Amino acid sequence: MKKVVLLTLSMILWNNTGIWSQETPAWAKETPKQKEERMAWWTHDRFGMFIHWGLYALPARHEWIKQREKISDENYQKYFEHFNPDLYNPKAWAAKAKAAGMKYVVLTAKHHEGFCLWDSKYTDFKVTNTPYKKDLIKPLVDAFRAEGIRIGFYYSLIDWHHPDFPYDRIHPNGPQDPEARKAANAQRDIKKYQKYLKDQLTELLTQFGPIDELFLDFSYPGENGKGHEDWDSENLLKLIRRLQPQIIVDNRMDLDHTDWGWDYVTPEQFMPQEWPTVRNQRVPWETCQTFSGSWGYYRDEYSWKSVHQLVVMLIEVTSKGGNLLLNVGPTARGTFDDRANNRLEGIGKWMYAHNRSIYGCTQAPPEFKIPSNCLLTYHPVAKRLYIHVLEWPFKSLLLPGYAGKFKYAQLLNDASEIRFRTQSGTETSQGGNVTLDLPVQRPDVEVPVIELFLE
Ligand code: GLC
Repeated sequence: MKKVVLLTLSMILWNNTGIWSQETPAWAKETPKQKEERMAWWTHDRFGMFIHWGLYALPARHEWIKQREKISDENYQKYFEHFNPDLYNPKAWAAKAKAAGMKYVVLTAKHHEGFCLWDSKYTDFKVTNTPYKKDLIKPLVDAFRAEGIRIGFYYSLIDWHHPDFPYDRIHPNGPQDPEARKAANAQRDIKKYQKYLKDQLTELLTQFGPIDELFLDFSYPGENGKGHEDWDSENLLKLIRRLQPQIIVDNRMDLDHTDWGWDYVTPEQFMPQEWPTVRNQRVPWETCQTFSGSWGYYRDEYSWKSVHQLVVMLIEVTSKGGNLLLNVGPTARGTFDDRANNRLEGIGKWMYAHNRSIYGCTQAPPEFKIPSNCLLTYHPVAKRLYIHVLEWPFKSLLLPGYAGKFKYAQLLNDASEIRFRTQSGTETSQGGNVTLDLPVQRPDVEVPVIELFLE
């Protein structure tokens, strides 16, 4: 016993930022450069499509409906028995994602309800046993790959259907009374559930070719919650890395206290004020966002964001060095509804002419101050600065301290020249202010962008 304690203690180091962090296991060792290279496509591409699809598309009132309405397995079964997305055409989905400028897709292979979109050997609660009868994942993977879109899976660590998943503080079913819950949980074996996670992830990571991103969701450690010990996260990640060494994994398996147990952080449905940091280091990040608030198809939700808001969101995320994973919740017929199509088309229209201000771009160096009512993105390889003008000013835009820093300026949508002047008295001074001469009429695009060719 003493030996075990000592061993565990020696595996845990007090790092210089004052946070307990576990020593990197041999299989997880990687230099920062190697990690950067592994993630290079992802930090370049910036924009992906999230797809939340499952039985909850039928009630069409939130993907947490089983939990929110405390629905028993028995009563949830009606959605299983009526699941038949007869209009499912993943080629059409892939075409829409591509037209919107999305470069990767992340599909919910299984959400918290436990329903599996593929023909898993380890459960009956899967699409092939519904009236639809067919696997949904392989056709989607093929269709998106054919469009050059990379593939990611979302896989819920939580499972409200599995008989060995212990009841906890968010489980929709099971006794509320702590003693009764304890007794009920005595019949549930988390070890068996851990094996289920490994078996299913092995299927997902061996049957569908190279998988680029894995979004595991989610941990809620503490009283009646679940965290890395419940998931056996370290061994789970070890397995994942063995099966798909290049895969990019999110940070929701409760290994945040380590530097090796996650690849990126996942701010959900909010905009970080600045590039997120962990232990004082900027880290890769991807914010996942919805069109309207819920992730699954929600018929009667009326809080849809406008195309403009979504385009600005993509720009803002890029301007802070992050990725945007924007969600669509398909209907139970297997289609994107008109509101979603409208948003995707609008974003696509903007991306068609402006995507080079997004792909390969990141936060601008601090020497470039942000002009009023603008956002900046920066392409370090092409050496261009993109000024996204959120509010079109009257005839001129002041660039504070930009003199001598760029040689040419144009509107990105039509490559028309923008002439500029340095302010009197500062002509020669490097770092003086510059005024751009803008047309009075705002270019008719969602967000006009000015492209500066830097010195
Ligand atoms: C959450 C929710 C969920 C959604 C997800 C997306 O934690 O539980 O319904 O799938 O985040 O990030």
